[in-house]
Amino acid sequence: MAEENIEENPVIEAIKSRRSVRDYIDKQVSEDTVNQVIDAGIHAPTALGLQPWNFVVISGKDIIKEISDHIKPMVQEHLKDSTEQLAKDLKEKMKNKDFNLFYDAPILVLVMHNRDDKLADYDCALCAENMMLAAHSLGLGSCWIGAGAFIQQSPELLDDLDIPHDFEIVAPIILGYPRSTPSPIDRCEPMVSWIYKKKD
Ligand SMILES: Cc1cc2nc3c(=O)[nH]c(=O)nc-3n(C[C@H](O)[C@H](O)[C@H](O)COP(=O)(O)O)c2cc1C
Repeated sequence: MAEENIEENPVIEAIKSRRSVRDYIDKQVSEDTVNQVIDAGIHAPTALGLQPWNFVVISGKDIIKEISDHIKPMVQEHLKDSTEQLAKDLKEKMKNKDFNLFYDAPILVLVMHNRDDKLADYDCALCAENMMLAAHSLGLGSCWIGAGAFIQQSPELLDDLDIPHDFEIVAPIILGYPRSTPSPIDRCEPMVSWIYKKKD
């Protein structure tokens, strides 16, 4: 596409307008729509073309809230010394017993793999970004809930969710119809070095 049309490029527009959504209306997402999102995910590139991912879709805000209640103490312990602003905000919110780490979203998709290989982590992360962009283009909100990876630390929860213990949960992604979408956040100016000639 010609450089002068860049603002009209729908892919770039979707990338720039996607936000992490943490406020959902009480409306279920259809299985077809979730499958469309996952289908976009699996078109991500993968190291050696291995497509290492597996997905578990957890459907229904009540079961997702139960998972949140189960892992919240582990997240609190993990963040107890953290001084990052978002971590401090999350610690404050977690003091409220009604606070749901998954923001009452109706769908939680766990993107995971069972390969002992960090390249498979990258593959799953790329898959997750494809999914979040596809969700956005379909009118859904999404958010990667890193805290959701604490499911991994609970053998009991893994058994409840039929997740084999050797699977690595890389990307817990919530999906739902947004009630509100946050304003864009400022992006830092990227540090870019251009190299035209190898050093002698
Ligand atoms: C690896 C990863 C973990 C994240 N974990 C959480 C989380 O546990 N809870 C949350 O509310 N947001 C989480 N986020 C969302 C980020 O806070 C969000 O992407 C960031 O603030 C930028 O906002 P944007 O996605 O709207 O551009 C996570 C994002 C990534 C990439």
